[in-house]
Amino acid sequence: MSNPKPLPFSEATVRAVAEDFPTPFYLYNEKGIRESCRSLNSAFSWSDGFRNYFAVKATPNPHIMSIVKEESLGADCSSRAELMLAEKIGLRGEQVMFTSNNTPVFEFQAAKDLGAVLNLDDITHIDFVDQNLGLPELVSFRYNPGSAREGNVIIGKPEEAKYGFTEDQLFEGYRTLKERGVRRFGLHTMVASNELDGSFFVETARMLFDLAARILQQLDVRIEFVNLGGGIGIPYRPEDKAVDLKAVGDRIHSLYDEMIVPAGLDPLRVVLENGRMITGPHGYLVTRCIHHKQIYRNYVGVDASMANLMRPGIYGAYHHITVLGKEDAPHNKVVDVVGSLCENNDKFAIGRALPEIDRGDLLVIHDAGAHGHAMGFQYNGKLRSAELLLQENGDVKQIRRAETYDDYFATLDFAEFD
Ligand SMILES: Cc1ncc(COP(=O)(O)O)c(C=O)c1O
Repeated sequence: MSNPKPLPFSEATVRAVAEDFPTPFYLYNEKGIRESCRSLNSAFSWSDGFRNYFAVKATPNPHIMSIVKEESLGADCSSRAELMLAEKIGLRGEQVMFTSNNTPVFEFQAAKDLGAVLNLDDITHIDFVDQNLGLPELVSFRYNPGSAREGNVIIGKPEEAKYGFTEDQLFEGYRTLKERGVRRFGLHTMVASNELDGSFFVETARMLFDLAARILQQLDVRIEFVNLGGGIGIPYRPEDKAVDLKAVGDRIHSLYDEMIVPAGLDPLRVVLENGRMITGPHGYLVTRCIHHKQIYRNYVGVDASMANLMRPGIYGAYHHITVLGKEDAPHNKVVDVVGSLCENNDKFAIGRALPEIDRGDLLVIHDAGAHGHAMGFQYNGKLRSAELLLQENGDVKQIRRAETYDDYFATLDFAEFD
C-alpha cells in the first residue's frame, strides 16, 4: 500500500536528523511554508493592500515568523509575549494586528506601544482603553454574529462563544469612536476554525461587506479594512481536500465588485489572520517506538506524548502517521499509538491500521506545524521538545532547543532543601 500522504523529506534525512537530535522533535519544512504563503497571497492578489496576519499562536517561533514575514505576511498577536516576538523580528505598526480578549491593561499598552492595530473584543474596552491609554487613531472591532451564523464544529456556535460585539453593540461602538475623535476603523470576525469548506469564508466576506455598507450608510463611518479572521482548514486526513484558495479569492472578489464598489466603500482592504494553513501541513512530530503492550487492545508506546501534541487527546483530532521506511508495507496491524502521560487520552491514534512497528522505529506524525508545539505543556514533568527547520538549501537548523530539567525547575527555589 503506498503512503497517501508522502513526506517532503527522505527517509535518510530524517534518520540523519534523529542521529543528531534525540526524539521526539518537531521538523518544519521551509519550502512548504513559503508555498502556502504564496498561494494565499496569489489568491487575493486582486485586493490592494491584502495581508494575511500570521496567527502567531499557531507557531510562535521567530525563525518561522521571519520566513512568513519575508513572504509579506504580518503578525496577528493575542498576548504580550506574541507582540514581543513580532517586535523581535522587526514587525511593528500596522504590520501587527492585536486580536485579544479579556485583555489586561499591560497587554493593550504593549500593543499600543508597538503601534499595532487594536482589534477590540468588547464594547466596554472602548472606555477601558480610552481611560487607561487613550484611543489610537485606528480601532477595529470583533463582531460576533450570534445566531445569524452557524459557526463550525471546532469553534462552536457563535452565540455560545465568548468573543466579540453583538450587532447593536457594533453600531453603538463605532458611533462612540467617532464622537471621541477616532478617524480610522476596521471590522473583524472569526467564526470558523479548521474549516475545509471554502464557501464558509465567502459567506463571512458577504456578512462583513454588508455590515460595512450599513455602517457607512447609518453612521457615516467608513470601514477601511475587513478582517475575515483565520480558520482555513487543512487536510489532516488523507481523504480531505484542501481549500481551493484561488476559488475562494475569486468569489470574494466578485462579492467585492457587487457589494463594496456600489456602496462607495472601494478601496476597502481585505485581510485575514490564518495560522494553521500557513504552517500546519509543514510541521512533523518525529517520535520513536519504545514499547509494545498487549492487554485488551494492542498498544504501541512512543517517546512523545500529548504534552508534545495535544490535538488528538483534546479534540480527538486525526493526525496521519507514517512509519518511516515502512510506507509500502501492509498496514495490517490495528493499534493505539500512545504516549506516557498518566492520562488515558494520551493517544496519537486509536484503532489505526499501521504496518508492523518494531521498537526503535521512527514514527512521523503529520500536520503538526500549527497549534502543535505551541500547545505543548509540561504536565507529568515532560519537557518540551526541540524544533528543527529543514531549510530550502537542505540544511537542518535547530530553531528551538529541547528543554532541560534546569528549565523545568528554573522557577523553584530549592535552597531550603540543600
Ligand atoms: C482570533 C484568532 N485569529 C486567528 C486564529 C488562527 O486560526 P487558524 O490557525 O485556525 O487559522 C485564531 C485561532 O485560534 C484566533 O483565535
